[in-house]
Amino acid sequence: MMQSKSQRQDLHVAIIMDGNGRWAARRGLPRVAGHRAGVAAVRRVVERAPELGIKRLTLYAFSSDNWRRPAPEVQSIFWLMRAYLRLDSERLRQRGARLQIIGRRDRLPPLLVREIERAESATVNGRCLHLRIAVDYSSRDAITRAAADMTTAFARNRPPGFELMRGMLTRALTADGGEVDFLIRTGGEQRLSDFLLWECAYAELLFTERMWPDFDAADLDRAFAQFRQRERRFGAVSPIVLLSPDSSSGGAR
Ligand code: IPE
Ligand code: IPE
Ligand code: MG
Repeated sequence: MMQSKSQRQDLHVAIIMDGNGRWAARRGLPRVAGHRAGVAAVRRVVERAPELGIKRLTLYAFSSDNWRRPAPEVQSIFWLMRAYLRLDSERLRQRGARLQIIGRRDRLPPLLVREIERAESATVNGRCLHLRIAVDYSSRDAITRAAADMTTAFARNRPPGFELMRGMLTRALTADGGEVDFLIRTGGEQRLSDFLLWECAYAELLFTERMWPDFDAADLDRAFAQFRQRERRFGAVSPIVLLSPDSSSGGAR
């Protein structure tokens, strides 16, 4: 029987790591305590993911709209990121992870950019897990940039046809991580908040009430078990329907 895409082994999982602030508030702690506890959750998930057959993992750590937060919170998030990159890149390397930071770099503190570059080059040969962390990331910006690059490339020529344009945009936006198979958002909100809009066109979505700092390996296992139950059709008809004896024979693809 045709293998449903959810059974494939090289899966791309994306996570919107939300709920740090509320997790802290419920404990009477400052928001930064939630972000610190969130780093521990990142470690748990990064350890578990390859064991589930996840090859690509994209984590939303800081959106371009998060600049709207109070400066001290933003600074403490960047400080925690720097510490994470410094402390964890060697372990990531040993475990065969390749780390990549996606998003804009020109507005980040120079010390963080330096740490990003160091961690990326230290882990460049990792083959077990492609770990992407989105920092100062906006999917609308990424799509707009891809369209602008294409316009520049064709500035002196006739613009390409629609199909070529669509193919070029798809390649530009999925060259690194590919399309998303499964998107998880913690923290109870049910929205994408400008994350991987193009890449999630056919992603399976799972929204959980669990706050990110509480998310652990068992939560990932449960979420993944749900994903494995889903039947992905990509607009086609279920292969089960196609195989049933009384279905019409003409429509099989
Ligand atoms: C997600 O947690 C982390 C970032 C956006 C940096 P939040 O900080 O958004 O936590 P809540 O949503 O306020 O609980
Ligand atoms: C999305 O969470 C961004 C990250 C998790 C990094 P937000 O907390 O910023 O999203 P909204 O504002 O609730 O949509
Ligand atoms: Mg939030």
